[in-house]
Amino acid sequence: AGGDAALGKKVFNRCIACHEAATDRDKVGPHLLGVVGRKAGSAESFQSHYSQAMKDAGAAGLVWDEANLTEYLKAPRQKVPGNRMAFPGLTSDDDIANVIAYLKADPKP
Ligand code: HEM
Repeated sequence: AGGDAALGKKVFNRCIACHEAATDRDKVGPHLLGVVGRKAGSAESFQSHYSQAMKDAGAAGLVWDEANLTEYLKAPRQKVPGNRMAFPGLTSDDDIANVIAYLKADPKP
């Protein structure tokens, strides 16, 4: 909570090679439009691309609320062992809070 969406838009430049947040278009990663509050591994259009680990995490009850997103973006491999996001995570807590604020703002193109 408490992040700055405008700053988060800049942080999102580190995600944008693999994720679209302003539309429901998938890239290497699933689209992140409306991801805050979404069940893990549940984007319809990405079902055949998610790892089993990500789909299992969602089936087990993982929802991308702010707390879980914070943990995932800090340490993706620890939060969802076996997931296939080729990204080591963000080291700055401010960057994490800001990028979540950006995602929450349901960014338009
Ligand atoms: C999955 C966020 C960077 C590739 C996810 C998920 C989130 C996320 C929330 C889970 C989505 C869901 O369950 O539907 C972010 C953010 C990033 C970032 C905020 C930047 C800070 C990247 C980068 C890549 C990438 C750079 C590619 C090199 C993927 C892939 C998945 C994924 C392939 C699916 C993983 C699986 O099914 O195991 N990302 N991501 N992400 N991301 Fe990222």
